[in-house]
Amino acid sequence: MIIAANWKMNPSRHAAEELVQSYARIPDSAGKSVQIVCFPPSCYFDLVAAGLKNTKIQWGGQTCHHELSGAHTGELSASMISECGGNWVILGHSERRQNNDETSSLVSVKLKTALAAGLTSIICVGEGGDIRQAGQQDRFVQDQLEASLACLFELDAPQLKAALLRVIIAYEPVWAIGTGMVANITQIETMHHGLIEKLKHLCGDSYPQAGMAVLYGGSVNSDNAKDILANPMVGGALVGGASLSGDGFMDICLSI
Ligand code: PGA
Repeated sequence: MIIAANWKMNPSRHAAEELVQSYARIPDSAGKSVQIVCFPPSCYFDLVAAGLKNTKIQWGGQTCHHELSGAHTGELSASMISECGGNWVILGHSERRQNNDETSSLVSVKLKTALAAGLTSIICVGEGGDIRQAGQQDRFVQDQLEASLACLFELDAPQLKAALLRVIIAYEPVWAIGTGMVANITQIETMHHGLIEKLKHLCGDSYPQAGMAVLYGGSVNSDNAKDILANPMVGGALVGGASLSGDGFMDICLSI
């Protein structure tokens, strides 16, 4: 089970210091069955690395550039995340897809770079409210998944097998992100089942024996986490707003 905290462009430095201290107090009993991963803004990497040093909590970047270095003002490379001590990256978050032209084909190139830098990637997919209203969500999200993972299918079978161990999927319906409108269990279960079947189809014999984790994200909080995480199709949660409260996030981690 993976519980990921996406801080987005939050909080202040002082609040980030306090939040890291709260995370460091999450009891290890949660860590036994749960891998907690924190995604702070890059200006807090050092603070988070120091604050979580003696814990099992890992951390990563909220995105990375598709090249490992070069003349890309304002950008952050996968190798920089790794050199700072991060092991993870989020790719294709809907806010990046909407606001930063992060297309699925770009996500795929970024994934290739992230894998080369040794990072585990959380690949986000999810439909907008209009697509769900039109009943097109399953096809839309599965197409998004296939295009976002395209780089993997150029690999030979042993390489693909190894790469899949470092790929996590997050289903985040855009209409549920930051809105308080969490998807219901049937919607989550149906989508996750479809995504897992699609992954099995795409990966063939290379699909990991232990399966692939599909996280749910979109208005997860300490009130609804228990029900969502109890569903066998759900491999964890990607938590935005509720990860900014130390107590609230601890409750989510302990609700498993
Ligand atoms: P939310 O964000 O929990 O605030 O809805 C989730 C996300 O964007 O990853």
